[in-house]
Amino acid sequence: MALQLGDTAPDFQADSTAGLISFHQWLGDQWGVLFSHPRDFTPVCTTELGYVARLAPDFERRGVKAIGLSVDPVDSHRGWVADIKETQGHAVNFPIIADPDRKVANLYGMIHPAHDEVHTVRTVFVIDPKKKVRLFITYPQTAGRNFDEILRVIDSLQLTDRHRVATPVNWKPGEDVIIVPAVSDEEAKSKFPKGWKTLKPYLRLTPQPAEPAKR
Ligand code: BEZ
Repeated sequence: MALQLGDTAPDFQADSTAGLISFHQWLGDQWGVLFSHPRDFTPVCTTELGYVARLAPDFERRGVKAIGLSVDPVDSHRGWVADIKETQGHAVNFPIIADPDRKVANLYGMIHPAHDEVHTVRTVFVIDPKKKVRLFITYPQTAGRNFDEILRVIDSLQLTDRHRVATPVNWKPGEDVIIVPAVSDEEAKSKFPKGWKTLKPYLRLTPQPAEPAKR
């Protein structure tokens, strides 16, 4: 059955540009972003990997480790990263898994045969420190991902793990958040001392309690 939110992210061992990786051990107690791309030396993937390299400080601030994957072998990945640095201005600073036998791709449902029988689609999984799958998005091969959106959802997840809030449409860090309906007004008085605005009894907006990225 396909992976679902809340499932434990499958563990695996695989070769990568950083050597042999045992996935759960490599994640340690950090968050993870595991993302597949169709193949090496392709234009969209080149821009994506360069952008993820550029985001390294943003990932680190949130306690997140990034790891890419394609079905090409490590030698190919190593040749390609030089092109990424040259064209995107950022050296790849995270491992890229080599998955020629599709072991990891099949574990994570990254091959969608009706789209492409051989190469992975663009999936991205966000995994929390308990190794639970917290988000996945699947893109077609022709559409580069929006990694700013992935960071935005991580901010929401980290915030809502610590406070009894949810984040509204198009929320960005620093904007008002929603007090979850399970919190009574009485309880909200102590939990949200800055107060809140009641638009409907089930829709109460309050200033964001704390920076989502602080750990
Ligand atoms: C790309 O990364 O540019 C790409 C890969 C597969 C199909 C189309 C585009």
